[in-house]
Amino acid sequence: MISTGSMFSHIECTSCKKTFSKDEILKLCPVDDCGKVLFPKYDLNFDKSRKSIDDLKNREPNMWRYKEFLPVNFEENIITLGEGFTPILDAKNLALDLGINKVLIKDESLNPTSSFKARGLSAAVSKAKEFGIKKFSIPTAGNAGGALSAYAAKGNLESYVFMPKDAPQANKTEVKYFGSNLELIDGYINDAGKRSLEQSSNLNLFDVSTLKEPYRVEGKKTMGYEIAEQLNWNLPDHIIYPTGGGTGIIGIWKAFQELSEIGMIESGLPKMICVQADGCSPVVDAYLKGKKYAELFKKPATIAAGMRVPIAVGDYLIINSVNQSNGTALKINDKDMVEGVKKMSSREGIFCAPEGGSIVSAAIKLISSNFIKSNETVLLLNTGSGYKYLEELTDAI
Ligand SMILES: Cc1ncc(COP(=O)(O)O)c(C=O)c1O
Ligand SMILES: [Zn+2]
Repeated sequence: MISTGSMFSHIECTSCKKTFSKDEILKLCPVDDCGKVLFPKYDLNFDKSRKSIDDLKNREPNMWRYKEFLPVNFEENIITLGEGFTPILDAKNLALDLGINKVLIKDESLNPTSSFKARGLSAAVSKAKEFGIKKFSIPTAGNAGGALSAYAAKGNLESYVFMPKDAPQANKTEVKYFGSNLELIDGYINDAGKRSLEQSSNLNLFDVSTLKEPYRVEGKKTMGYEIAEQLNWNLPDHIIYPTGGGTGIIGIWKAFQELSEIGMIESGLPKMICVQADGCSPVVDAYLKGKKYAELFKKPATIAAGMRVPIAVGDYLIINSVNQSNGTALKINDKDMVEGVKKMSSREGIFCAPEGGSIVSAAIKLISSNFIKSNETVLLLNTGSGYKYLEELTDAI
């Protein structure tokens, strides 16, 4: 067995702070009355010289280049399809239109299965494989189900996907081609979550719901590591993120905390901006009311399937990342999301998902309210591809 050199040391609860062994198979915090999200922790007391940065230059261009800060202990357990190290593009046309100094787009649609979900599932399925787990389940708005199915296929593992019946067609089709078991749910992702849990106990499946096991967030966090490395350890002033369950924004913020702790960041930290849909905005509403936790959003409806998440177990962590970074949170309606897709497509040649469209419109709003200043740099995180929403985007044009 070849060691990855991972510095994974233990698991810690993000709420009650109790610690657990890294060798335990855990979901949410098992402490009575807690049940909150668990984070992997690393031994960050290592050689902090520039040597480690030079070493990075010789590594493969995928997210496993940061394997010291990922939880998998042995190389042979890594299941990879080449996820990560997506480009950060200089969006000069958009910057000109928006009237600001610099707009950058990190294009996550270039990942395997065409969304950033590949990162989280590569990490979670690899770590589960290390624990000897062979059968998985997932509730999904669409893209995460596609990603789990792909990594299960690659790793010769079994997977069960629970998806709202009105999820994008591309997600349903890819899951079937990847050989996963698909069950369509008459309801929202939280209803799919209940069915996934039920079937997990019936069929002895390991449920990899967003933030309900500690490792998907570790894959997502590599977006933060890449932003830092690709921008030469100088972070942008703002990062705008389309938020559903929140693993992305939470993971990026975790990455910046870890990199700050080991002294790699040479600038200030960005303001984290959480964008949700007008038709499904539980976390933005809670943030605007100054609350720590969100309430269930009734009758969620938006073209951005990935943002149709009426309740998120990591709500308090999303709000913390916004507050700690002096960021903000805002809502965008579906019409403006489609306008955003048109802008990113027609001005930058990136046919983005509606989730990606939402962040273009959010940037426009925040520039006109002067939250973003004309001399600042904004990084837009395009989480997915428009090609997966062809029916929805065809109808909307
Ligand atoms: C394209 C896309 N963007 C954003 C999201 C929201 O992701 P997160 O759970 O990290 O908030 C999803 C989730 O399904 C998605 O598919
Ligand atoms: Zn706890």
